[in-house]
Amino acid sequence: MADERTRAGERYATADLVAWLDALHVEHDGALREAFEAPDRHGIPAIQLGRSDAKTVYLLLRLIGARRVVEIGTLVGYSTLWLARATGPEGRVWTLEIEPRHAELARAHLAAAGCADRVEVLVGPALERLPRLESHGPFDAVFIDADKGNYDAYGRWAARHVRPGGLLIADNAHYFGKLLDPDSAEAAAMRRFHQEAAASFDTVCIPTPDGLLAGIRRG
Ligand SMILES: C[S@@+](CC[C@H](N)C(=O)[O-])C[C@H]1O[C@@H](n2cnc3c(N)ncnc32)[C@H](O)[C@@H]1O
Repeated sequence: MADERTRAGERYATADLVAWLDALHVEHDGALREAFEAPDRHGIPAIQLGRSDAKTVYLLLRLIGARRVVEIGTLVGYSTLWLARATGPEGRVWTLEIEPRHAELARAHLAAAGCADRVEVLVGPALERLPRLESHGPFDAVFIDADKGNYDAYGRWAARHVRPGGLLIADNAHYFGKLLDPDSAEAAAMRRFHQEAAASFDTVCIPTPDGLLAGIRRG
């Protein structure tokens, strides 16, 4: 049952208010604007992170001084650009994307932003590609934002390859509001993801528009 303060948050976050806050706190330079607007321009679903969600991920990575980060679900590189900026010139980001066209656009955005040398965009199903990254680990953080039915598998991979004190972050942790749906296999996978993440990481599900799970690896 939602408590009063949770319900108040839902009531107060109007579109105008969010737009005002995003403009103030999450400034987009040319490269971020380009990547953020690209899905609409290219007829690709605009399913990238919201601006304040992206800045939250960026700040969490900066708080732990993350240098080596894996992203699952690149789209056209908007979140990847935030990851690359958070990890800095000495950092390294590996991002996994199943759609070659998305990956190609992401590479172009990262190159235009001057980050191509420190980001590797790997094309293919993430579950097949992840084992090839293991020799680069352990990682400071894994950010999950791809096919929801595999979140539990991605979370298990992260638990094995994130260093103690490192971060697990995952978008759409409310599964579009259907997290508790008893008839959906994807919702069940997402619930397993939450349960298993909470067992290996010290976690919270930040109530962003669709939930942003964040946790620090125990151990
Ligand atoms: C929500 S979008 C990612 C948004 C991106 N993180 C951002 O905020 O800019 C999800 C992406 O995951 C990709 N994807 C879906 N299933 C995948 C899989 N099995 N392996 C790798 N990528 C996958 C989709 O093609 C899509 O580009």
